[in-house]
Amino acid sequence: MIGKGSSLQNFNIEMFQEDLLGWYDANKRDLPWRKDQDPYKVWVSEIMLQQTKVDTVIPYFHNFLEKFPTVHALATADEQEVLKAWEGLGYYSRARNLQHAVREVVENYGGQVPNNPKELEGLKGIGSYTKGAILSIAFNQPEPAVDGNVMRVFSRLLNIDEDIAQPKTKKLFESVTREVISHEDPSSFNQAIMDLGATICTPKSPACLLCPVQEHCQGYELGVEQQLPIKSKTKKNKKIPYAVLIIRNEQDEIAIEQRPDNGLLANLWQFPMVPIQEMSLELIENWFYAQYGMKIKLGEKQADLNHVFSHLTWELNIYHAKLEHDTREEEKVTFVAEGELNFYPFPVSHLKIREFL
Ligand code: ADE
Repeated sequence: MIGKGSSLQNFNIEMFQEDLLGWYDANKRDLPWRKDQDPYKVWVSEIMLQQTKVDTVIPYFHNFLEKFPTVHALATADEQEVLKAWEGLGYYSRARNLQHAVREVVENYGGQVPNNPKELEGLKGIGSYTKGAILSIAFNQPEPAVDGNVMRVFSRLLNIDEDIAQPKTKKLFESVTREVISHEDPSSFNQAIMDLGATICTPKSPACLLCPVQEHCQGYELGVEQQLPIKSKTKKNKKIPYAVLIIRNEQDEIAIEQRPDNGLLANLWQFPMVPIQEMSLELIENWFYAQYGMKIKLGEKQADLNHVFSHLTWELNIYHAKLEHDTREEEKVTFVAEGELNFYPFPVSHLKIREFL
C-alpha cells in the first residue's frame, strides 16, 4: 500500500514497462494527434480531451487544425471564430485560454511551444496534467501526466487507497509516475497508460483478463480492483430554473444576446434567459421590460430541458414570445434572421433550443 507505508517494493518496474510498452506498440489506438509529435497539435488535443471523450474530440480536432493549423494561425484568429470551432464541446474557457496562451507563445517564445516545465506552466490553461502531457508526448521527457484515468490505473496497479477527489492525491500519483515511467520512451509510456485506462482498466467492470499488465496488478491480486479508486462524493449540483425566450419581431427575426466576457460560457450567444427562481409566470414580461426595455407578449411554453454543468444544472423552460414594443436604449439583444444564427457560437443547451424554433 502506498501513501500509508510501503511502496513500490514488490513492483518490477522494468518488466512492467516492457509489458505495457509491448502491448501499446501492438494495440495503440489510431488517433489523429498521434500522427506526429507536433507540440501544438499535442497541446490542442490535450486541451480538447480534458473532460471530453476521444470519439467526441476527433471531428473537432480535425476541424480545428484545418481552421487554425499553426500557433500563428490561432494567435491571429478572431475569438468568435475560435469559439465557433469549439461550439458543442463545452467548457469554453478552454478555448479562450488556449488562444490566450498561444498568443503568449507568439509574443514571448517566437511562436515555439516551450519545452520546459517553467515556461509551460506560466501559460494560461496549462496545469500540471497538460504540462506533463506536452513534455512527455511531444518532447519525450519523463514527466508525469496524471488525470483521473491515470489515477484509476495506478490506484489499482499499486493498491493505492488515497481519495482521488483530494487535490493533494494527484501529487502522490505524480511521484509514483516519476518512479515507474520509461526513460527510453516516456511519450509512449504515458499514452499507453491513457489507452489502458480507456480500453481495459475502465471505471466499471475492468477487463482484467485481457490486461497486459495483470501480473503486476496488486488490486487484481487482492481482488479489490472494483473498489478502487477511492473517490469521495462531490456535493450535489444546484438547480437553477430559467425561462428561455424565443422572441420574434415583426420581421420574424429572433432575439439573441451575448453572454458577459467572463464566467460560465463567457462570450457565447444565447436566447435571452430570465431567472425564475422566485418569479411567477406573469412577472416575466414585467421583469423583461425592466431589464431589457422591450415589451414582449409571452406565448405558450414549448418544452423543458435540463442542462447539467459540472457544478450546477440549468432547468430551462422554453417559451415563444412576440416583441410588442421596443424602447431599448442600449443594444442588449440583437435580432437576426433564423438562417444567420449559424454565424454565432451557441452553447449546447441553446443549440438544442434551436430545434424548437
Ligand atoms: N486522453 C487524454 N489524452 C489522451 C491522449 N493523448 N490519447 C488518448 N486519450 C487521451
